[in-house]
Amino acid sequence: MNTIDRALSFLKDGKLVAIPTETVYGLGADAKNPLAVQKIYEVKGRPPTNPLIIHIPNIDAMSHFATDIPEDAWKLAKAFWPGPLTLILNRHESVPLATTGGQDTVALRVPNHPVTLELLKRFKGGIAAPSANRYGRISPTTTEHVMEELGSKVDYILEGGPCQIGIESTIVYLVAGNAIILRQGRISPSELNIVLGKEVMLKNELSIQVPGSSLAHYAPLKPLYLLAIPSLKDIITQLDHQKRPYDVLSFSAPFTASDYMNSWIRASQDPIHYAQQLYSHLRALDKTESECILVEMPPLTEPWFAVNDRLQRAAHSLE
Ligand code: TXA
Ligand code: MG
Repeated sequence: MNTIDRALSFLKDGKLVAIPTETVYGLGADAKNPLAVQKIYEVKGRPPTNPLIIHIPNIDAMSHFATDIPEDAWKLAKAFWPGPLTLILNRHESVPLATTGGQDTVALRVPNHPVTLELLKRFKGGIAAPSANRYGRISPTTTEHVMEELGSKVDYILEGGPCQIGIESTIVYLVAGNAIILRQGRISPSELNIVLGKEVMLKNELSIQVPGSSLAHYAPLKPLYLLAIPSLKDIITQLDHQKRPYDVLSFSAPFTASDYMNSWIRASQDPIHYAQQLYSHLRALDKTESECILVEMPPLTEPWFAVNDRLQRAAHSLE
């Protein structure tokens, strides 16, 4: 039996399979099997009201999981699937409420990864999969990360190499005539606007409540401080003086050679490359002997929106 055959038989048995995608690894189960889906929540320690994304093999499968699909959804699906875009639509009655966290809406995406696309094609169903990390922690971008997060709690891990995008998909809410970005990702607001021929709204411009979008997320265990260069310099001077070890992720070359600077990762200036490596860097820095992680704040321009969103959620405030 090859690895896809094995993953397939576990899924059909209602078991959990970690699946590779181009964004991050997912913790997958048969989307239409409520008992299998319930195990995802247990293993992740995720609140049952926090809905899951259903991964489907192609655009045509959309109508098996959603109803009243608006024209905007077809346009975006045709433009970006397979790819890092999740659409929120009205739930088809065949999708268990356990999978949607009790919502009457459903999140759908066709992932762009050859291994998982082959698995989906042969499974002939949907795979519900949140990121394969414990609740609130950093999403995994390699199978080693999945092992670290979930170990033997997952029945099978399907190898697909390191994730090419490295941060989670862009989520767009398309219910009741809306087009609202609920989560930033590689696909930017401008790219969505071009395809839709209108301006999408950003969730932070509105005061809507979205299940499962709690602010503290994607977080290392030790404090992470997100700082512009002048504050970064100040804090480093202070930590050196107090003899407290720290790690740094910065665009600059090291400006200290102190014994308390545990490691200094020089970050890529390219937002796509930065995103690819972000979670691996945070995991590595979280494991060192230091007390905290200092991250230089990226620019606040559109190519950096998704990276800034993840860093802000991972960060502690200095106050
Ligand atoms: O790139 C990704 O999207 C990855 C890979 C594995 O596909 N998945 C992922 O899943 O990031 P997860 O569960 O970590 O994040 C999914 C988010 C939830 O936190 C929730 O906010 C949102 O999707 N979501 C899902 N269904 C929703 C719904 N019906 N209404 C509003 N938001 C929903
Ligand atoms: Mg997640």
